[in-house]
Amino acid sequence: MSGTNGRIAVVTGAARGIGAAVARRLGTDGFAVAVLDLDEDACAPVVRDITEGGGRALAVGVDVADEKAVKDAVARVAEELGPPTTLVNNAGILRDNLLFKMSVDEWDSVMDVHLRGSFLMSRAVQRFMTEAKWGRIVSLSSTSALGNRGQANYAAAKAGLQGFTKTLAIELGKFGVTANAVAPGFIETDMTAATAARMGVDFEDLKKAAVTQIPVGRTGTPDDVAHAVSFLVSEEAGFVSGQVLYVAGGPRG
Ligand code: NAI
Repeated sequence: MSGTNGRIAVVTGAARGIGAAVARRLGTDGFAVAVLDLDEDACAPVVRDITEGGGRALAVGVDVADEKAVKDAVARVAEELGPPTTLVNNAGILRDNLLFKMSVDEWDSVMDVHLRGSFLMSRAVQRFMTEAKWGRIVSLSSTSALGNRGQANYAAAKAGLQGFTKTLAIELGKFGVTANAVAPGFIETDMTAATAARMGVDFEDLKKAAVTQIPVGRTGTPDDVAHAVSFLVSEEAGFVSGQVLYVAGGPRG
C-alpha cells in the first residue's frame, strides 16, 4: 500500500492533455483526485477512468484566475473528497505573439491563468496542507522559461512560476510541504497541435523539426510528465523541494 493512498490531490486543467494524464496517474497511485477545468462536463471522462480503475475522483468546473471561483472549488473538494494536501498547478494557455504585436490582453490573460491561477490555488489549498503537516505542490513550468521566440508573456509566466515555487518551498517547508516545478519540453498535446495550426505547419512536420533538437530523439508524451509529477508528490520525495525538473529529453536549465 502506497504512502499516498487515501490522500486527496487537486489537478488543474485536468480535462485533457498533461493534466488529464497527471490526474489518471495520481488516481493509479492511490490518490483521490479532484479534476478541475473550465468546464465541469469536460472533466467527466477523466473522472470515469479513475473511478472505473477503482479510485475516487470528482469533476469541478473552475476558472483558476477567478478568486471567488477558486475559493468555492477548493471548499467543494474539501467537502466532497476530503481536505486536499496535494496540488498540481497545470492549467495553462498560450497567447503567442512577437513583442511588437503582443496586445495587453494577450499578456494579461497568460499571466492570469499561469501566475494568478497558481497563486490563488496554492493559497486556497495550503491551509489544508499546513493543518495536516504534509503537502505537495507541483507547478507546470516549461523550457520556454529559458526564453522562446514569440512567447514573451508565456516565458515570463513560466519563469515566474519557478520563483514562486522556490519561495513556497522556503515558506512551507517547516509544515512538511514541498513545492517543485516540472518544466516540460515539447509534449504532444492539443496545445502543441494548436501551435502548429497557428504557424500554418503540419503537426507531424513540427514534431519532426522538434525531434532534431531533442537528444533522446523523440517528442514527449503527457505520461512522461505525469511520471515526473508522480515522483515529486510521492511520500518518499519529501526531501526534494524548490527544484525545477526539466522533462525535455535532454539537459536544459
Ligand atoms: P492543453 O491546452 O492541452 O490543456 C490545458 C488545460 O487547461 C485545458 O483543459 C484548459 O481548458 C485548461 N485551462 C485553461 N485555462 C484555464 C483556467 N483559467 N482555469 C482552469 N482550467 C484552464 O495544454 P497541455 O499541453 O496539456 O499543457 C498543460 C500545462 O503544461 C500548461 O501549463 C502548459 O503551459 C504546460 N506545458 C506544456 C507543454 C507542451 O509541450 N504541451 C510544454 C511545457 C509546459
